[in-house]
Amino acid sequence: MSQTRINNSPHTFRAPGRVNLIGEHTDYNDGFVMPAAIDRSVYVRISSRDDRKLEIRSENFGEQVEFDLDQPNPQPRGHWSDYVAGVAVMLERAGHRLRGAHLHIRGEVPLGSGLSSSAALEVATACALTTNSHLNIDRRELALLCQKAENEFVGARVGIMDQFASFFGAAKKALMLDCRSLEFQLLPLPDTVNLVICNTMVKHALASSAYNERRAQCEAGVKYLAERLPHVKALRDVTLEQLEQYGRDLPQVVYRRCRHVITEDARVLAAAEALERRDLHRFGELMRASHFSLRDDYEVSSTELDLMVELAFMSDGVYGARMTGGGFGGCTVNIVDVPYVEQVTSFIARQYEHITKLKPEIYVCEASNGAEEIQ
Ligand code: GLA
Repeated sequence: MSQTRINNSPHTFRAPGRVNLIGEHTDYNDGFVMPAAIDRSVYVRISSRDDRKLEIRSENFGEQVEFDLDQPNPQPRGHWSDYVAGVAVMLERAGHRLRGAHLHIRGEVPLGSGLSSSAALEVATACALTTNSHLNIDRRELALLCQKAENEFVGARVGIMDQFASFFGAAKKALMLDCRSLEFQLLPLPDTVNLVICNTMVKHALASSAYNERRAQCEAGVKYLAERLPHVKALRDVTLEQLEQYGRDLPQVVYRRCRHVITEDARVLAAAEALERRDLHRFGELMRASHFSLRDDYEVSSTELDLMVELAFMSDGVYGARMTGGGFGGCTVNIVDVPYVEQVTSFIARQYEHITKLKPEIYVCEASNGAEEIQ
């Protein structure tokens, strides 16, 4: 991001939401993920103030809040502005002194749908605050600070995937990220397909205990396995054979959580190979297996998500479909041949509404670039 043109005129930053193609609940297990940034973003316009206050206005909520950067012990308010304040707090705690600012926020990433509106808000805020304060911070470090804001200020123990995708996504590319080393590869998504995202319109609550409970179950699995296999630091280090051999006495539920993570990591690696070969059929099979594993072993799907995916499987022109994001509601992602997109979306929308009486939103997306300053 260019951080040279600093004066008092406003700057605007855009940070995209993301859709995860495969690799769910693997990021906080040091594993692999494959999201893409989408063409729906959060925009933050910033102009500086002479004091140390942040005046934060949301166009979507029609609300404005003030945050004092000098207050001794800032606490979350259980409010959308926590994502902004949290980023400011983490930047300051890392030793970066911020200037006061007016921030004007507008978002087009649907909220609470598993498309990372919160990460997009954090990332756009981080770009805005650092530019406004003449700070030049590496994007990887900023992504980690945004994650920290969500973990330690907002209180959701999310992994690094969403913030990373919002910073590093690229047009027409899927981003395959190693969440341990933070090394990544951009893999080409063929022009012949669209990413079709179907919103069940059932909102999830990420900060909810279920997400944190899954993490705790994974940690319990790691602790048990590490006593038998000393090299194990995370589920990333365990093979399926090792789980079968050493994990037999784990509580059933913990065993299944581990099995999901271990098989999902393998699916991401296989999906990356498939994409390199442009083998969308194989990619789709892996997405399908991922959905079943999330439904049966990780138990983060829902009736609505399962229905959405089943409807996609019934449609021509769909290579793969699965729930995307944290789960318990939100969206599915579908890889659809461009000529079939209209037919597929109208079939799914009609049937879904008929069965659930909920009117779904469907977003036909393209993979797009990560965060940037715009004019
Ligand atoms: C949420 C979190 C991510 C990741 C996914 C599940 O989106 O923010 O870090 O854990 O859930 O894959």
